[in-house]
Amino acid sequence: MLFLTTVLSCSDKGPFNFSDNLGFAEDVVVEPIPMDEEVTYEILKNSILENKCLGCHNANRARGGINLSTYEATLEGESEQGKVVVSGRSSESTLFLEVFNGTMPPRTPLSESEIDLIKRWIDTGAKKGGDGDSSPPPVDSSKPDFKTMAVDYENLKKFILKDKCIGCHNPERAKGEVDLSSYSSIFGFSVYFSTITEPGMPEQSALYTEVFKGSMPPRTKLSHDEIDYIRRWILEGAIEKKVEVLPLSKLPATYTNLKERILQDKCIRCHNPDKARADVDLSEYSKLFDYSEYFSLITEAGNPEGSSLYTEVNSGNMPPRNPLSKEEVEFVKRWIQEGAKE
Ligand code: HEC
Ligand code: HEC
Ligand code: HEC
Repeated sequence: MLFLTTVLSCSDKGPFNFSDNLGFAEDVVVEPIPMDEEVTYEILKNSILENKCLGCHNANRARGGINLSTYEATLEGESEQGKVVVSGRSSESTLFLEVFNGTMPPRTPLSESEIDLIKRWIDTGAKKGGDGDSSPPPVDSSKPDFKTMAVDYENLKKFILKDKCIGCHNPERAKGEVDLSSYSSIFGFSVYFSTITEPGMPEQSALYTEVFKGSMPPRTKLSHDEIDYIRRWILEGAIEKKVEVLPLSKLPATYTNLKERILQDKCIRCHNPDKARADVDLSEYSKLFDYSEYFSLITEAGNPEGSSLYTEVNSGNMPPRNPLSKEEVEFVKRWIQEGAKE
């Protein structure tokens, strides 16, 4: 819903008053646009751009190289951060991102309903309106098949985060301190929550709960398939890249394979030189044979039942709450049985 928006007079804001300098009209009222009415460039221009933007973004004075005074110029606009308008995708359009983030107009952010109107215009295809409508077709987002596609960060980023989230969650402007633009940043910690508390636990991970509740992205909801894909990604271990690989049963039983296929994703996070839970460091071959007072990780090559590396995964104790598959447990066993080779 859109409501009446009153832009307050700026006369009480002291000597540094943008509106006064630019001769903008005061007390402008944005008429509400009913939800079933199409938002066109013409409507946007008359209700917002004219009063709030064109003073700095016109043909003669195009701050930041951006001219919003005609439909064509607006759609052709390229700003430092990317295209001004990507039809159908507000979260990739700097016109929306700048006003949403409150950077534009400088020091006098738009109201919620004004921001909504800009979003609605872009998301419904950035139509021109008026005579001779020459609107571009919205960007074709040929639908990926979330049900069959490999569940990893690469696909997550390519098919969901890039279009829907990263515009607001990147290193330059990490909204809510959340940066979703790289695999490592997604595990970034904030004082209040973890984006992914723990792989395997979507319900404890804000990345999932926010999209499930519908609070992210703001004012739109991801599709059921997209939300489900995020849930599965976390549940299946929040992996960076799945590669087409030999089944574990066909793989030579070496530490290199063990590390690459199991330890790296499932264990080393908690068992590395900086963070060796229970003094166990699984990140290097030689470390596996280090001795601890209380137990041996590998009692002797050839004896899985006496090696806690095997008994812990076989009992389902490790990794905590996220047991290995049968096939993985079997590989750990076979590796020890066949001599725990490097
Ligand atoms: C008082 C002058 C002023 C007003 C009013 C203004 N802008 Fe800007 N705008 C600038 C300047 C200066 C830059 C370039 C420097 C920067 O990015 O901060 C800029 C840059 C931009 C950019 C490009 C940002 C990028 O990616 O580099 C966009 C998009 C934009 N403005 C949109 C708007 C919109 C939409 C409005 C109205 C709602 C608006 N501006 C109002 C001065 C203004
Ligand atoms: C248009 C900008 C915008 C987009 C697009 C966006 N976010 Fe956000 N996000 C924000 C802002 C602003 C905050 C901080 C304020 C808040 O919590 O509402 C935030 C906060 C968050 C948080 C932290 C919530 C908390 O507990 O504080 C998560 C997680 C998040 N976003 C995930 C996402 C995901 C996932 C997407 C894409 C599916 C997304 N966001 C898209 C603006 C955006
Ligand atoms: C989320 C962190 C986490 C992950 C992931 C994890 N561990 Fe652990 N691990 C721990 C903690 C904490 C302890 C110590 C407390 C305990 O024994 O439950 C521990 C203890 C151990 C021990 C010693 C148990 C003993 O006898 O005292 C072994 C062996 C072990 N982990 C192996 C693994 C292996 C193998 C994996 C991967 C398949 C793994 N862990 C994944 C946190 C983790």
